[in-house]
Amino acid sequence: MNDLRKSIDILRKNNDLLEIDDHFSSDLEVSSFTNIVQKKNGPALLFKNVDGGNIPVLTNTFGNMNRLENMIGKSLDDIINLFNKTMNMLFSRPSLIKGYEIFKDFKNLGIDEKGNGPVKEMSNDIDLNDIPILKTWPKDGGKYITWPVVITKDPENGQYNAGVYRMQVYDGETTGMHWQKQKTGNMHLMKAKKMGKTLDVAVAIGVHPAILFSAISPLPEGFNELSFSGLLMGENVEVVKGETVDLYYPSNAEFVLEGYVDPDEERDEGPFGDHTGYYTPIEKYPVFHIKKIFHRKNPIYHATVVGKFWNEDVVIGDAIQRIFLPIIKLQNPEIVDLFLPEEGIFNDLAIVSIDKKYPGQGRKVGMSILSMGQMMFTKYVIILDKDINIRDRKEVLWAIATRTDPARDIELINLSVADSLDHASLYPNAGGKMIIDATKKSIEEGFNRPWPEKIVETELEKLNDKLKKYGFL
Ligand SMILES: Cc1cc2nc3c(=O)[nH]c(=O)nc-3n(C[C@H](O)[C@H](O)[C@H](O)COP(=O)(O)O)c2cc1C
Repeated sequence: MNDLRKSIDILRKNNDLLEIDDHFSSDLEVSSFTNIVQKKNGPALLFKNVDGGNIPVLTNTFGNMNRLENMIGKSLDDIINLFNKTMNMLFSRPSLIKGYEIFKDFKNLGIDEKGNGPVKEMSNDIDLNDIPILKTWPKDGGKYITWPVVITKDPENGQYNAGVYRMQVYDGETTGMHWQKQKTGNMHLMKAKKMGKTLDVAVAIGVHPAILFSAISPLPEGFNELSFSGLLMGENVEVVKGETVDLYYPSNAEFVLEGYVDPDEERDEGPFGDHTGYYTPIEKYPVFHIKKIFHRKNPIYHATVVGKFWNEDVVIGDAIQRIFLPIIKLQNPEIVDLFLPEEGIFNDLAIVSIDKKYPGQGRKVGMSILSMGQMMFTKYVIILDKDINIRDRKEVLWAIATRTDPARDIELINLSVADSLDHASLYPNAGGKMIIDATKKSIEEGFNRPWPEKIVETELEKLNDKLKKYGFL
């Protein structure tokens, strides 16, 4: 059975875990140390003496691509293939309905229902103050649970969702629930509100990394993240039924918080130093009330530290964009490559190359990108021809500088969706978009002069010997 502890064993075996016995404070010290180590591509960290307590804190588990692959248990190429196959199955016409049903059905795929599990070993003996939850940045509004897998069920159709939404600790049994307006957890809450009900929520902390990764991934709605993590792990995810909530959750999580969110209650949330590189301001968000905490014997607290780029969420973001490219290509087969650079916080800037065949295709792809799933948060889309290596910033800037006229090639959309974390947007959660169409323009697009030919080096092979002789090769 896969769980976080097995992943820790893998880290140990790979010599990729630093186990630290020195005393550390959960108030800034663990986070700062992690932040510095992960920016130096250091190992995963297990702090064994935090606040003088006996609950170790694990951080930096996805610090580089190699570790991410080891933690999930599959190479990125294998994950991409698996995802591709699954999507093809879902979207190929004859099996469309059947394939989709598989992922809707909680029991059909990759899930084993158990009466009991390790997470139920201990209950009612601690509250949040006993867990070494971290304060990350000096001006944070408090301590935040940063790796919670928040599990809810659609009150109308029973479909499960798991998402990672930060949770600010207010006291031993109350936290914020920072699911942004457009996220599935909030959709479930809105439906509960319509039905005049509160929403049951189970929060699993310290799960197998494949479960965490699935919860972060922007899977299509109705696509059960727990099922998907079963596929990734190549084995069923064992789940147990909640005691005070009508939900199943992973049976071998280190902690599970059972509770509810009342759709009519909000509270100040923030500030929190986020991956934008800024503190998100105080805003109103829903409140999570804990009814019961279960945990394993000798539990381990799993956390992440976010901040300006080069933290582990950059590695996760990189993996996610590669995995989801096939889905985006399914809708836009002309796309050659898509790149969401970390400087653009993944959400804000998309660079796309296309194999352009007809007029207007650059803008067509730009508009499509802006309306696909969580790509809706993108602010700037740059469309380039396929001869540009979009992962090379110099090439991209060169192409924008030499292939566009601002009067013709920039499309502004005045009001659309904005990421809740975007402090610069016109309004909270709503703002503008820009498509830069840097593809070569044709006569049909109003370009009525010859497009110049690009300089290409042709003599390299012929000059190989001479270049070698003079030390240039
Ligand atoms: C470290 C980290 C923290 C995150 N925090 C939040 C958050 O506080 N609120 C939020 O809405 N999304 C957050 N996300 C993104 C969601 O987990 C992601 O959009 C996920 O796909 C949402 O799932 P859903 O589509 O099922 O709602 C975070 C992602 C990461 C990697």
